[in-house]
Amino acid sequence: MMDRVRTAVIGLGKVAETIHLPACLLVDQIALIAGCEPDAQRRELMRAKFGIANVYEDANTLIEKEKPELVIIGTPPDSHRDLSILCLQNGADVLCEKPFAMSLAETDDIIEAARQFDRVVSVNNQYRYMNQYGVTKEMLAAGDLGNLFFLQCWQQMYYPPTLEKTSWRNSLKQSTLFEFGSHPLDLICHFFDALPESVHAVIPQLGDKYDADVLVQMTLRFPGERLATIALNRVSRAPERYLEMRLDCEKASVRISLGGIARAGLELTRNRGRHYPRMRISLVKGGEARLESEGTSRVIAREPQPAFASATAAHLRKMIEMRRSGKINYEGIGRAQQILRIIFAGYESAKTGQVIRLDSFPAPAKKQAVSAPTASASAIASGSVSGSGSESFSAPSSSSAPSSSSAPSSATASTSANSQSFLAPPG
Ligand SMILES: NC(=O)c1ccc[n+]([C@@H]2O[C@H](COP(=O)([O-])OP(=O)(O)OC[C@H]3O[C@@H](n4cnc5c(N)ncnc54)[C@H](O)[C@@H]3O)[C@@H](O)[C@H]2O)c1
Repeated sequence: MMDRVRTAVIGLGKVAETIHLPACLLVDQIALIAGCEPDAQRRELMRAKFGIANVYEDANTLIEKEKPELVIIGTPPDSHRDLSILCLQNGADVLCEKPFAMSLAETDDIIEAARQFDRVVSVNNQYRYMNQYGVTKEMLAAGDLGNLFFLQCWQQMYYPPTLEKTSWRNSLKQSTLFEFGSHPLDLICHFFDALPESVHAVIPQLGDKYDADVLVQMTLRFPGERLATIALNRVSRAPERYLEMRLDCEKASVRISLGGIARAGLELTRNRGRHYPRMRISLVKGGEARLESEGTSRVIAREPQPAFASATAAHLRKMIEMRRSGKINYEGIGRAQQILRIIFAGYESAKTGQVIRLDSFPAPAKKQAVSAPTASASAIASGSVSGSGSESFSAPSSSSAPSSSSAPSSATASTSANSQSFLAPPG
């Protein structure tokens, strides 16, 4: 049997506890050797709970003493660039949490380091490894569903950032699309097997109560006149739906739920002029996918339990397979970078009211923008950069090609197309 991969986890917070550490225990090829966390109480708690052999206060000491081959980074996004580069430079492959980084320039730096040191690097958009999405993708790829031409995706819950317990999260002004959006966007691009040509987003400022992007509506145009819409609503009083999707394909539709369903019903559906009674029973904690066509609906995939950790385990296995095959490619990480580009394009669209073409975003920095101050990552994480939907996170680089150059932000204008209150009574 091959030696197990010496694996460490940086950041022993919530995602480590619920996803990374359980995922490590699910992967036979992994030996969990160490962790690091500045909060002493948290460090000790995770060490005891998961039997981590050695824990450290900081990443430098961990890397120096343990020399891990694989590191999982579960810290807030403003530290992803520096920690990823530290690990890559010191001989470790990296699974970094989403959001990938604070700017496209930072992602360029990480990818460049991975190439330079011949390391595997990936971003943990793990949903595609869940059963309901995997089965759907297989059916699409096999041609069983015909061409996918329209995808709707939505989330509804009452969970504005102000309810978040972590200070870094509840101070994010651009929160929902940046912090959660990469999951649905990764799935959508995976299903279309393409990147969108253009993006249009509306991110209303819902009064003074929520100083963040708690409501995001986005339309994505894909090549071949195909369309996707995303609606993320963090202030909905309706029953929580963590992530819902409908894929309309030429031969059938697929309805996918993530985050638990308990539904029983008898409904009368109409199809080509005829009525059909339809019985539906769904009871799963993790989610399911249903094939819907000609008035019928049948389950094609179930995820009995929430699969956030097991999907991450599948992702880790894939990374280890790539490392062991010796055939490292940077397609996956390039796609993760493009997902972040779509997110920034969404904020830009919400700010300007324009449809943003991805092939020309971000636009080369304008002359007057060169002297404009660029928000630092730490300033953004601490919430000192404000204005939901009205400012970009940081300076996106002027090109999507890996390069270490960082262009100044051209998006520092303070005017917002989205400052009207949508909660105001209709005039
Ligand atoms: N893929 C997923 O499904 C998923 C789910 C939840 C969170 N996340 C992502 O994981 C990241 C962390 O989220 P969280 O909810 O665990 O946050 P958290 O605040 O609960 O945990 C982060 C931990 O990192 C520690 N930390 C901060 N800087 C560090 C450093 N330089 N070195 C070592 N430790 C450091 C903090 O003390 C904290 O304990 C975020 O990027 C978030 O978006 C991903």
